[in-house]
Amino acid sequence: MSKALLQSEAAAEYGPMHAICIFGQDKAKVETCLAGMLSKGLEDSWNPVPKAMEYAVMGQAQRVRPILALRVARMLRAETEDTVRAAASVEMIHSASLIIDDLPCMDNESMRRGRPAVHLQYGEPTAILAAFSMVAMAARVVVSGVDSPGLRRFQLALLATLDSSSLIGGQSMDLALVGDERNAQRSAVNDMKTVPLFQLAVEAGCVSHPNGVPCELEAFGRHFGVAFQLTDDFLDGELEDRKILDQTYEQCRASLQHYGAHAETLLELVQYLEQRTHV
Ligand code: IPE
Ligand code: MG
Repeated sequence: MSKALLQSEAAAEYGPMHAICIFGQDKAKVETCLAGMLSKGLEDSWNPVPKAMEYAVMGQAQRVRPILALRVARMLRAETEDTVRAAASVEMIHSASLIIDDLPCMDNESMRRGRPAVHLQYGEPTAILAAFSMVAMAARVVVSGVDSPGLRRFQLALLATLDSSSLIGGQSMDLALVGDERNAQRSAVNDMKTVPLFQLAVEAGCVSHPNGVPCELEAFGRHFGVAFQLTDDFLDGELEDRKILDQTYEQCRASLQHYGAHAETLLELVQYLEQRTHV
């Protein structure tokens, strides 16, 4: 996706006040939680890893995944402090995955979130250690306070997201495919590489919901993940077929029908993606 902030893009779309209303509060909530998680060890001058972690997470990021989590929780009337921690841990894993994705042996990107990629700022060894440490921190933070069945369930989902049939497998498949084969396998790569973190965001939103993730929201997380990636591909010129994109937005909306007007803020996120492709 473009490196611009979700917030500033929304500002261009709706005007700054509206953008602040839509995203600002949730963004601030998640960023405060992330800053707290990352504060440990920053003063240790001998150790660059905590600083690299903070640099990786606290740049200009959209925070779409944690915002999705908080909106899911609010729709279910199940937003708690655990929701914020779970949402922040999804963002932490996402940020770790971006460090890995940008390495010279992967996509070899030099810029991320509006500044030099972590491996250029801190060196490759520190970047790899930071990503490792962020994943561990994300898994630990959700069960390090008062334990609950919802947090345990979320932690299991988080760890499953990291295994080789999910994010890691998606990254590996992405590396292996080139040219036409890559186009043909686009949806398989997306299903493994991008979608799982959106499904995990929905899990985070349901962490304090007594019945876990309702099947309609499970479907929404999947469709929204696909829509997010296809929007990115469309804006990057990698996807030309507008029909596929529109179908995906419709699938997102259809999966929310069950919630009627209660799904307004989630529909707003779908609309946000769609509007970006019409600019
Ligand atoms: C980038 O994700 C990776 C993709 C799945 C396209 P984002 O577009 O959410 O990146 P940040 O978090 O805002 O930097
Ligand atoms: Mg990449």
